[in-house]
Amino acid sequence: MAGIPELLKGRSFTRVSDWSPAELGTALDLADELKVERARRRELRILPGRTVGLIFRKPSTRTRISSEVGIAELGGMALYVPAADLQLSRGESTRDTALVLSRFLSAIVIRTFDQAEVDEFAEHATIPIVNGLTDASHPLQALADAMTIRERFGALAGVRVAYLGDGNNVCHSLMRIAARSGMELVAACPDGYLPDPAVVASCRDDATASGGSVAVTTDPAEAIAGARVLYTDVWASMGHEDERDRRLRDLDAYRLDAAKLARAAPDAVALHCLPAHVGEEITADVLYGDRSLVWDQAENRLHVYKAVLALTVR
Ligand code: CP
Ligand code: NVA
Repeated sequence: MAGIPELLKGRSFTRVSDWSPAELGTALDLADELKVERARRRELRILPGRTVGLIFRKPSTRTRISSEVGIAELGGMALYVPAADLQLSRGESTRDTALVLSRFLSAIVIRTFDQAEVDEFAEHATIPIVNGLTDASHPLQALADAMTIRERFGALAGVRVAYLGDGNNVCHSLMRIAARSGMELVAACPDGYLPDPAVVASCRDDATASGGSVAVTTDPAEAIAGARVLYTDVWASMGHEDERDRRLRDLDAYRLDAAKLARAAPDAVALHCLPAHVGEEITADVLYGDRSLVWDQAENRLHVYKAVLALTVR
């Protein structure tokens, strides 16, 4: 494979908008290459001796395991540290934590509630900070989503994507990468669950520059018409579990089921970032059906994570 470009060395990935469309494209190209090399069982010790810290305030299957496996496959190692085990939980400042951990580690992946915590780490750390999900965004997921869509359709520009359900962190990051890649993104969410209007407005600016488009509607049928990707996510995200009953009622009409898939484009596929709640936001026949790319999408978390590390870690 070709050498690793230098342009992103030392950069953080706190949100999709940290990286230009060209930089995001570089990450996707490298992820594709790394996927091919892994299938050939080629060992690529791109980051020998580096240690990546994983500081998590929420549970995780994909983000944690792809991060641990990904750095190992690049020749380094991972250090998983629940945030509760750090002095951070006893009042040591984010700034001091970031400064000290920068002396030990080569990068940090953070999963937390408040996006401001990731931003504060990035402000003070001297190593790349990678957002492993906040309440506001999930940029690694968005990269894997774009990789999966590009694998299937050969390009991103012009692909119509319908996001159904809660206008949450996953929706925001998907919208951003779609807007930066020339996709046509329509989010169908009920009133009270619409994506952040500031994110939508800013994504619209990106879409104007890329030739894509961003729209929001409360009508799932409107979003689905002509869509080649139907995407959904859990209705009660981490931290919203106590609202589950209300959310199940409010979001019922937005379930990704076979009837909706049938009304999309003939070659439409289903995506879900996982974990799925079968029978709630997605039905079993769609999740496990032949139009589901969900398992490739999950695998692609590993390849994009390796690409982000290979590009950013010095
Ligand atoms: N999609 C995703 O981020 O999954 P985890 O919560 O398991 O990391
Ligand atoms: N929106 C979900 C995504 C999980 C990967 C959550 O924040 O819980």
